[in-house]
Amino acid sequence: MVLTQAPVTAHPGHVGQRAFGVEFAGLGRAFAAPRRRGATAAGPVLQDVSLRIEPGEIVAVLGPSGCGKSTLLRIVGGLDRPSTGSVAIDGAPVSEFDPRCAIGFQEPRLLPWRTLEHNVALGLPRGVPRAEGREIVAELVSLVGLANFSQHTPRQISGGMAQRTSLARALARNPGVLLLDEPFGALDALTRLKMQDLLLDVHAAAPTTVLLVTHDVDEALQLADRVILLGRSPDAPGTAGNDIRQVITVPGERPRDRGSAELAELRAQLLGGLGIERHSAH
Ligand SMILES: Nc1ncnc2c1ncn2[C@@H]1O[C@H](COP(=O)(O)OP(=O)(O)O)[C@@H](O)[C@H]1O
Ligand SMILES: [Mg+2]
Repeated sequence: MVLTQAPVTAHPGHVGQRAFGVEFAGLGRAFAAPRRRGATAAGPVLQDVSLRIEPGEIVAVLGPSGCGKSTLLRIVGGLDRPSTGSVAIDGAPVSEFDPRCAIGFQEPRLLPWRTLEHNVALGLPRGVPRAEGREIVAELVSLVGLANFSQHTPRQISGGMAQRTSLARALARNPGVLLLDEPFGALDALTRLKMQDLLLDVHAAAPTTVLLVTHDVDEALQLADRVILLGRSPDAPGTAGNDIRQVITVPGERPRDRGSAELAELRAQLLGGLGIERHSAH
């Protein structure tokens, strides 16, 4: 293999090295029913979710649309609150917007009139001295492979590059927990694969805890130490919330062989859990 890029390195003291454990304990979330005549009472979206995530672990969250994946992530980041139970980061409960976390979304959400460098700098925590901030930003911009584009604006770059910028901005916060909500969902297939590799490189350089929501079973199996499948119990009443249906520990060092028989078996198991039957053609 020919290396066309310099190997990814992190300078201790600049790009962060924080990783916190996350613990869900009996977490539930229900939303109030809309006040309409004849509206049925809304049941909980999430119910009795309990899980311990180790510091530095990558956990992927899969589940059908609307099962509460984004809600779960928002609760970890303190952007929403549980109705029951709790979530703790590094042993301390989350009660409001939590500066120990950074969140990345499907849309890069960059300021279009600012340079990439400036957009990344927006992620820096308050109080970072200016010179140190500049070093951190330069390091992150090159970590995501955009050193030659730091003075470009979002309009001048591709969707994949915008998503790299968004990832660098999230990392500028030096998060102990990185929350990613379908971060590559809007990218074309090839760019998505490249972003998955990039995320693994970034995690190797700055091994933070990652909670990754995805609807892509292969992405989950390629990136995660463990995959959790959210869903409703098939024999629960219609008003029951979603909880963890499966927890799968993915074997093998990353990057994994996408074509391995072992992963194919787990893929079939997860697709089955999502209610998608495998067709014999595959
Ligand atoms: N702020 C809110 N108010 C009312 N309902 C909400 C709110 N946020 C999410 N929901 C509902 O909770 C359910 C789960 O949403 P979400 O977490 O976005 O699902 P997912 O990310 O798995 O697709 C959906 O039915 C959604 O309509
Ligand atoms: Mg969502």
